[in-house]
Amino acid sequence: MKDYRIRSIDDYMQSYQESIQDPEQFWDDYARENFIWKKSWDKVLEFDLLKPEVKWFQGAKLNITENCLDRHLSQNGDRTAIIWEPNDPKEVAKHVSYKELHSMVCQFANVLKENGVKKGDRVCVYMPMVLELAVAVLACARIGAVHSVVFAGFSSKSLSDRINDSDCKILLTADGGFRGSKVTPLKEISDEALESCPGVHRVIVLKRTESPIQMKVGRDVWWHKELMKVDDDCPAASMDAEDMLFILYTSGSTGKPKGMVHTCAGYMVYSTYSFQNVFQYEEQDVYWCTADIGWITGHSYIIYGPLSTGATTVMFEGIPSYPDVSRFWQIVEKHKVNIFYTAPTAIRALAQYGPEFVQGHDLSSLKTLGTVGEPINEEAWHWYDEHIGKKKCPIVDTWWQTETGGIMISALAGITPTKPTFATLPLPGIQPVLMDEKGDLISELVAEGRLCIAYPWPSMARTIYGDHQRFKDTYFSSFTGKYFTGDGCRRDEEGNYRITGRVDDILIVSGHNLGTAEIENAINEHTHVAESAVVGYPHDIKGNSIYAFVTLKGTDINQELIKNEILQLVCDLIGPIAKPEIIQFCSGLPKTRSGKIMRRILRKIACRETENMGDISTLLNPEVVQEIQDQALAH
Ligand code: WTA
Repeated sequence: MKDYRIRSIDDYMQSYQESIQDPEQFWDDYARENFIWKKSWDKVLEFDLLKPEVKWFQGAKLNITENCLDRHLSQNGDRTAIIWEPNDPKEVAKHVSYKELHSMVCQFANVLKENGVKKGDRVCVYMPMVLELAVAVLACARIGAVHSVVFAGFSSKSLSDRINDSDCKILLTADGGFRGSKVTPLKEISDEALESCPGVHRVIVLKRTESPIQMKVGRDVWWHKELMKVDDDCPAASMDAEDMLFILYTSGSTGKPKGMVHTCAGYMVYSTYSFQNVFQYEEQDVYWCTADIGWITGHSYIIYGPLSTGATTVMFEGIPSYPDVSRFWQIVEKHKVNIFYTAPTAIRALAQYGPEFVQGHDLSSLKTLGTVGEPINEEAWHWYDEHIGKKKCPIVDTWWQTETGGIMISALAGITPTKPTFATLPLPGIQPVLMDEKGDLISELVAEGRLCIAYPWPSMARTIYGDHQRFKDTYFSSFTGKYFTGDGCRRDEEGNYRITGRVDDILIVSGHNLGTAEIENAINEHTHVAESAVVGYPHDIKGNSIYAFVTLKGTDINQELIKNEILQLVCDLIGPIAKPEIIQFCSGLPKTRSGKIMRRILRKIACRETENMGDISTLLNPEVVQEIQDQALAH
């Protein structure tokens, strides 16, 4: 059997060439030899990026859980699949073998069936980072139900919007979730959300925090009681390659989040391929990705990619700063983690406390480090390299998106020469191009432009749930026939890519995507708010922070009070992650003559770049610019 693992830079060059010259052959070979299929495909790829329509492995039948679980049982059933580390270090960690995980997934899949879930039904999962979350996700996949995981930090309004958008019939949640010293009242938030979700007829509640909660008769049932009613024998549903596997929401330029749809076969193939090659996972390695399963990183690189590889994956319930800021390094030492994958914001947050929290922990097991979610600045890169990797671990800076399903541009650990702040080179099968603002392809090697992908790859999102037109408009209309990422990007003389950040109305704050329109909509809900404009500005730890410019209705208003009410409103409508760092009240917002708010000017003011404001004479109200600027300096 051919070895598909890239082991040297020459291998990489060769694989890359093959994947570009004949993508179908390349993926056909890899997919055929590395997975179990219930039935093979008739056609590897069919696509039309104008529609857009993309189909991989058409005609194939499979179940991703057979690849993540069943196929490991005969030889590696006793190998640890998941090491679960609790929020509180005094609680014992759990080691779950592939055999045990298989049994848990099958049993919970039967619970879902008993509760009326059928193939194709959408299941909303709003849970803390407990083992049962991974089990729930896999149990959905087992029976062909579509999981829609909503990050447990989102508010009731965000939860109900997502439930209704994808018409979920059932909600899986817990009595509460531990996060550091706090308990998130997940059931209470769910109850509030469900007041506006008439379609949900069943809620399965896991007992985790023992918080007092209300169970609604006829709707709510306990997880542990349901388990007692079923056995753990559950055949894997036979899925078509292009059947939906999951929906995951991400922020958009309008207020409404986008339910990105991923399908079974292509997603499985690419999440596995990228996991194995980027991290260079070797048998017996302990791998830890610190993301939450509520985000795409958790889907692809805590659950699907690692489990399909037969890896041992760590799942951490808590936060990096509890009980103190050495928690990550304690866990690395405790579980002898070999591969560690986290976000730049976490690195920056931990670096500020100094190396003493790292010293005293044996990190010698580490051999590879990774980052994801936002550009990593040079300082954080070097801190990570020196203090965590002790200058002997390659750092893979992995660029990708919820929409791409898997890592697109990244060094391969120990193979691709790294360059701080550069994601470096595309993975095989990925064809990045830079486009200029006029929509033309930039053919020079050294260049800066908008990052697009010119050719389909297996794990690309297929649509936005219920809104294909929006999918087309957002991703395939700016540059005809190409997928537009929304990111700006630079390319150096060696062909390395460096992502420079979003060029649209999405802000990345502490690694979380937030739509400025979504935050503005929340602020505008306040009865005294006339208008608002939200922009980002650089922040040492979070990467970006949120700056809101707000105009109020009426005079004689207590601004301090309103500020607090606005913050509360944003928390209630979106979640604490979306709270503005600065709220500035202004008498007006700079507008074009057609009434469009000039965010470009506000961005400059927020970033304190007031030297070169450009031509403001064409504004409807140029006089407010100076006023806003003067006030901003007072903040
Ligand atoms: C940003 C996370 C620079 C980028 C997997 C992208 C990055 C957005 C990197 C997607 C990176 C992600 N370097 N920027 N290594 N990784 N981004 O959907 O702007 O939560 O478009 O997916 O994060 O965020 P999402």
